[in-house]
Amino acid sequence: MTSTQPCYFIHTWGCQMNEDDSRQIANILDQLGYHRASEESDADLILLNTCSVRARPEQKMRTKLGELRLMKLDRHDLIIGVCGCTAQKEGEALLKGRPYIDFILGTASIYDLPTILQEVKQEHRRLVRTDIPDRGGAQEAAHVTRSTARAGLKVFVPAMYGCNNFCAYCVVPYTRGPERSRPHGEIVAEVSELTANGCREITLVGQNVNSYGRTLEDETDFAGLLDLLNDVKGLERIRFMTSHPKSLSGRLIEAMADLPKVCEHLHLPLQSGDNSILEAMGRGYTVEHYRSLVDRLRERLPDIALTTDFIVGFPGEGEEEFENTMQAIERIRFDSAYTFMYSPRPGTRAASMEDNVDKKTKSDRLCRLIELQNAITLEKNSADIGKVFEVLVESPSAKDPSRMTGNTRTGKTVNFPGHADLSGRLVNVRATSGHVWGYSGERF
Ligand code: SAH
Ligand code: SF4
Ligand code: F3S
Repeated sequence: MTSTQPCYFIHTWGCQMNEDDSRQIANILDQLGYHRASEESDADLILLNTCSVRARPEQKMRTKLGELRLMKLDRHDLIIGVCGCTAQKEGEALLKGRPYIDFILGTASIYDLPTILQEVKQEHRRLVRTDIPDRGGAQEAAHVTRSTARAGLKVFVPAMYGCNNFCAYCVVPYTRGPERSRPHGEIVAEVSELTANGCREITLVGQNVNSYGRTLEDETDFAGLLDLLNDVKGLERIRFMTSHPKSLSGRLIEAMADLPKVCEHLHLPLQSGDNSILEAMGRGYTVEHYRSLVDRLRERLPDIALTTDFIVGFPGEGEEEFENTMQAIERIRFDSAYTFMYSPRPGTRAASMEDNVDKKTKSDRLCRLIELQNAITLEKNSADIGKVFEVLVESPSAKDPSRMTGNTRTGKTVNFPGHADLSGRLVNVRATSGHVWGYSGERF
């Protein structure tokens, strides 16, 4: 690298909140005059944006830290920072025994990055910044200074931060702090600016996005926010995730049905199909309630795609409880599901329950669940052959550049013969075959 400007490289693990944070961090660094390095080895500053939701992403961070330790033996001026959920959760403890880490930046502190970098460079001090809004006093709105630079065709836009649900297995309320919503005016202004810069599809993100507005003084709830965004000129599609079944209101279902830009797709994590497990997880709904929501959704939006999350092997899940999950999958027929083996997280309520499903049983159950869901996904996608879908075209397919790839309003991937100049356009494509990953099709 011949440039005299400093370069940075960011590793990102975890969910769309971390992806959005990494984009914001990149924007901050661009403004400070840094360049994005194409290779980690070219970077003067390396940031790890970490995830704590399961043991595996934390393990990836530890492996990467091991590599960076060696790298820094040769390059003493390399600056290494750890941010994201593990940084928030472990704070100062991460520095212990790791003298090569220069700073720890918590999830609510990314906008302090410029001053932190300055202090690290000038004063050669190691810094930890993990302040987070106080749970008791978190009634205020989240005002954040965000940049809309680097906007692509599809952008994640946070509607709210944090989570108040404390599901028994989940670390997120500890790593992201209390729930706080952004004022709707800020969100609408951001989306308008993004759209003016070429964005066509936004996904409103938050850990519990459908409880939007609870921390705001005015009356705007999530349905109201969607209504405001539906009027943004040039915006074509609105998605959102993740919604919690316990706070899915009739008003939101009506808004989804009535507002043309809101896509016919809902990600609604069920987690388990057994009521005793749901109760132990502290999810706040029953399988029957969840199914009644699905019925209402399908009645008002007959073409809706439903996706979900499942955890297998939660403490106390026997064969019978697991079979209830399999049965729920057969009855509800999701379009697809993200599936996870339960991973105990220190500090959560479930961590004090006995992790009594052995590893092999967890992995067998995971395989059975994935096999069943894949068969349903394939059946559903194959049943759509001949249907015409509106596709937002993204880019040439990685495998075959004579084909383009994009997404339906229902969130499914479509691959079809086409030229690169279709990128960014909405086209109609007829499905010619269904796959577990989506559809193959042709222009219609
Ligand atoms: N806020 C979202 C997503 C949270 S994390 C929600 O409420 O659904 C994404 C998914 O990771 C969760 O839905 C859950 O299925 C899974 N997950 C969270 N903690 C986990 C743990 N300790 N072990 C295994 N999977 C977990
Ligand atoms: Fe975790 Fe539950 Fe909050 Fe989702 S709703 S982030 S699973 S505590
Ligand atoms: Fe992971 Fe934090 Fe998201 S724990 S899943 S990056 S909120």
